[in-house]
Amino acid sequence: QRRQQQRLLARAEQATAERATEFDWDSLGFGLTHVGSTMWMATCSAEDGQWSKGELQPYGPLPMFPSAQALNYGQAVFEGMKAQRSAKDRIVLFRPDANAGRMAEGAARLSMIPPPPELFVEAVTQTVAANADFVPPQGKGSLYLRPLLVGSGPILGLGPAPSYTLVVYCASVGSYFKGGQLTPIDLLVETRFHRSAPGGMGGTKCAGNYSPVLVTQLAAKKEGYSDVVYLDAKTDTYLEEVSSCNIFAVKGKTIRTPPLQGTILPGVTRRSIIELARSRGYTVEEVPVPVEEAMQADELFTTGTAVVVSPVGSLTYKGGRRQYAEDGQPGSVALELYDQLTGLQQERYPDPFGWVV
Ligand code: COI
Repeated sequence: QRRQQQRLLARAEQATAERATEFDWDSLGFGLTHVGSTMWMATCSAEDGQWSKGELQPYGPLPMFPSAQALNYGQAVFEGMKAQRSAKDRIVLFRPDANAGRMAEGAARLSMIPPPPELFVEAVTQTVAANADFVPPQGKGSLYLRPLLVGSGPILGLGPAPSYTLVVYCASVGSYFKGGQLTPIDLLVETRFHRSAPGGMGGTKCAGNYSPVLVTQLAAKKEGYSDVVYLDAKTDTYLEEVSSCNIFAVKGKTIRTPPLQGTILPGVTRRSIIELARSRGYTVEEVPVPVEEAMQADELFTTGTAVVVSPVGSLTYKGGRRQYAEDGQPGSVALELYDQLTGLQQERYPDPFGWVV
């Protein structure tokens, strides 16, 4: 499996970069302006539970009836991953097995048939190889991969789909938030709505978790904030997560981040930053973080595949505003961990964890 993966990625490295010369790699944002021309797709019938071996095809619409389960009842989980051109002039992936595992867990929660992890990794690897021209030059961005598992088969009564589709598409991307990767973001603590509740779906990367946050996000953006951070539904006291990423608070050499209790997304970047920070001598605690404590922290930052490590410039809560850096500069811990993580992901630094493949 690993050899096959390396062979495909090696082929991608040799691919001619003719198309890429037309691209303006310096103006990449997070969008579909440079959507990959090839996607990968496989299907599975619930009758025998067997996945087809999958194939590459031109990026385009999915064939689906209006009665598709996902469109009516929401059986849809997805992943976010990145392929990067590394300092060793290879195209590499970061912890694809972790994404395969998380998709399988999400599928189980939504009564869907997950793809076997080997098929998932194969799908992603083939997508990268076929879209090698879309991987930006080293340090200019990455190829964002979106594996999507949907209950595509038709059904009317409430029940699981009779068939499933796994599709992987991709796009060249730059920084997620406007203003550039390390420009500190301004967050508003959301006090009207919760993102999830104990026993709910907050820990699942399902499509349904991402639209309910838009109403608050769009309202916050209108007021000049970058995004909102949610509080726990039980006590309205503790930080949960931002709409699209996890959150960390730094005080001295101690870093705290909300624990995984089913209400926040188990981020692959979150998990990696915890291990990376510990390896660099920080004490990292996965404990409830009161919003009042966050207001007193030395710095805050967020993590996610799309946002990478994003420093927080200010946090506004019930009218009070905490400005973490007066000079608009990122906090030093966020900066250090961003550098370490991206250095490792781009093979500028050694990878003692074996995360880069
Ligand atoms: C990611 O970080 O990869 C995500 O899936 C979050 C999404 C809102 C862009």
